[in-house]
Formats: sequence, C-alpha cells, structure tokens
Amino acid sequence: MDSLHAILASYDDQAALDRAYTIPASWYVDERIARLERENVFGRTWQAVARAEQTANPEEFVTAELAGEPLVIVRGSDQQLRAFYNVCRHHAAAVVTEQHGTANLFRCPYHGWSYGLDGSLKGAPEFEGVCGFDRSQNGLVPVRVEQWEQFVFVNLDRNAVPLADFLGALAQRVAPLNTGALHFFERRTYSLKCNWKVFVDNYLDGGYHVPHLHKALNSILEYKQYTIETEDRYCLQSSPMAAATEDAATAASRTGDRARYFWQYPNFMINRYHGYMDTNLVLPDGVDRCKVIFDFYFDDVSEAAAERNRQSVAVGERVNDEDVGICEAVQRGLHSRAYGAGRLSVRREAGEHLFHRLLARDLKK
Ligand code: FES
Ligand SMILES: [Fe+2]
Repeated sequence: MDSLHAILASYDDQAALDRAYTIPASWYVDERIARLERENVFGRTWQAVARAEQTANPEEFVTAELAGEPLVIVRGSDQQLRAFYNVCRHHAAAVVTEQHGTANLFRCPYHGWSYGLDGSLKGAPEFEGVCGFDRSQNGLVPVRVEQWEQFVFVNLDRNAVPLADFLGALAQRVAPLNTGALHFFERRTYSLKCNWKVFVDNYLDGGYHVPHLHKALNSILEYKQYTIETEDRYCLQSSPMAAATEDAATAASRTGDRARYFWQYPNFMINRYHGYMDTNLVLPDGVDRCKVIFDFYFDDVSEAAAERNRQSVAVGERVNDEDVGICEAVQRGLHSRAYGAGRLSVRREAGEHLFHRLLARDLKK
C-alpha cells in the first residue's frame, strides 16, 4: 500500500487546466484520505449547519453534527447567535437532545447539570465539596458561528478567517439575487453509495453531463451559452434559459432569464431560478458513501402555491435521481485497477479543477 505522503504527492496542484489531471482515484477510496479530510477540510472550513430561520427568534435552538462533532446553535435572549459543542462538561452526554426547539436553559438529561444559552454552567446538583472545581471554567465549549444570507455557518477551527473572508467574492455575487425573499418549503435527504467528492465533481462539470444525463433539464438551458466562472473558493455556473422545451413540468418550475448554480468550497451549493432556490449540502458518510441534503425554497409557500411547489420539488428529485445513478457508477469505477485519474475539459471543467486544487492545498497542509 502506498504511503499517505505518496498518495498526496501523486496529484500536481500546480498544473494548468489544459495540463491537469483529476485528483487520483485513491483519494476517493482510501480511508486515510477520508480521515485527513475530516481534520483538514470539514474541521477547518466554514460549514453550513442550519437555516437562519431555524434560530430567528430569541431562545430558539437547533442541533447539528459536523465532522463527528455534536453541536448546538442557539439565539440568546440577548439576540446573539451562539454555537457550542453539545457535550456536557460533567461526563460528556449530549446536553440538548431535540433537533429544534426553544429553551431558556439547557438541562443535561443525565445528571441534571444546566447551562445558560450563553453556555455558562448554571447548576451542578450535589457538587458541593468538590476540590478545585471552578464553575466558570465548566461552561459548554463555544464554536465559531456566523450567519450569511439564509444560512448559519460554523467553523470548528478557532483560528479560522472570518466567514466573509472565506466566502470572498461569492457574497457580492449572491447578494443581488435577494435570497432573503424566498421561504423554506421542504428538506429532502439522499444517501448515495459514493464518496462525497464524486457528487461535487458531478455538480462542477460545467454542464458537460447535462445533455446526456438530464434530457428534460437540458431542454430548458442554452447549453452552448453555459458559462463557468471560478474565483476565490467558489464557482458560478450559469446558463440562459431556452425558449423551446420538451418537458412541461421542468419548464413550468424552472423559469427566469438565467439559471445560476453556485458552489462554495468544499460542499455547499445554491441553485437559483426565478422564485426558486435549492441548496445542496454534501456530507461524507465514510469513504464510500455520502449524504446530500436538499433544502427547497420558494417565493410563495402559501397553501395556494403548495401543489406547484411540490411539483417543483419532484422535478428536482428526478434530476437528482439521474445524478445518483451515475455517481454510484463512478464510485465503482474508481475502485477499478483500470482507472488512475482522468483529464479535464478546458471548455467545461474549470470548476472541478478549482475544487481539486483547493482540496489538495488543504490536505497537504
Ligand atoms: S453528563 Fe451531563 S450532567 Fe452528567
Ligand atoms: Fe446532474
């Protein structure tokens, strides 16, 4: 078996797009790479863990898991948004056991220790006479948290750059799209038998697979005019919408002048059409599986629009079903002795190239 060092060294992140290869197959199948990603990528980048509306009100909380770490995000009575490791300082039980709710105090279900929404330890029953125990040093351990647009991000790295610096120019690109006017409608979660990067690669191929794999979607896009822009840690893929369409349901639910598909390194996507947005969060689940969380938003989420919105979600689900089949086939191929790494289309695959270079930079740190 090659050393981890040799596997990392086998990708040249300095090669220009027209000379570049994809990251090697081993990066998609080797447990050691998955562990390194947990540490250097998911443990150090800003990660979307909640929707802003879930903690919009004082005393509202939501729990999440990131890189194996249980977390709780809560808005205090003082309006301040905070995040903590959801791990009791007594004997490590999860303090908050509901996914979402309101509380003015967190009480651990194990021995009843209680914490304020600012994380401070408020009560520790029957703890008199414990030598050298300082309550002020036994609050919930804080995690960096920031909100951007409709999304709450956390970062497990205390020394990380602020979220705005991490997002870079993405923030200016997304701002005019006024995502604040859209309302959350529904979440769908999919389990895929592929490494998380296979799903991201598929997303970032600049529409290359769309005419072959997504016939209905292809009929609403001007494939030849599809553009791919890469900057900082994001890629924007965009296409004018076509007049003629083959599929009525797709045409009815995907409208506007342009389709815009944003990806932010490493694993977050925002897909925007007129009156519509979905976000995709791609999470590793071991080296050979991933979970993709789709959140669907619409301009109108009233009862009157419910049927239209359900049809729109069904269109998204059909496209995703087509992607799932191919992603799982790719994962099987990546295990084959017949494959090492592939080349990239200069016209289409600049987004994948950016992804691979950013990833290599973080893994080689
Ligand atoms: S583990 Fe939380 S009170 Fe004991
Ligand atoms: Fe696709």
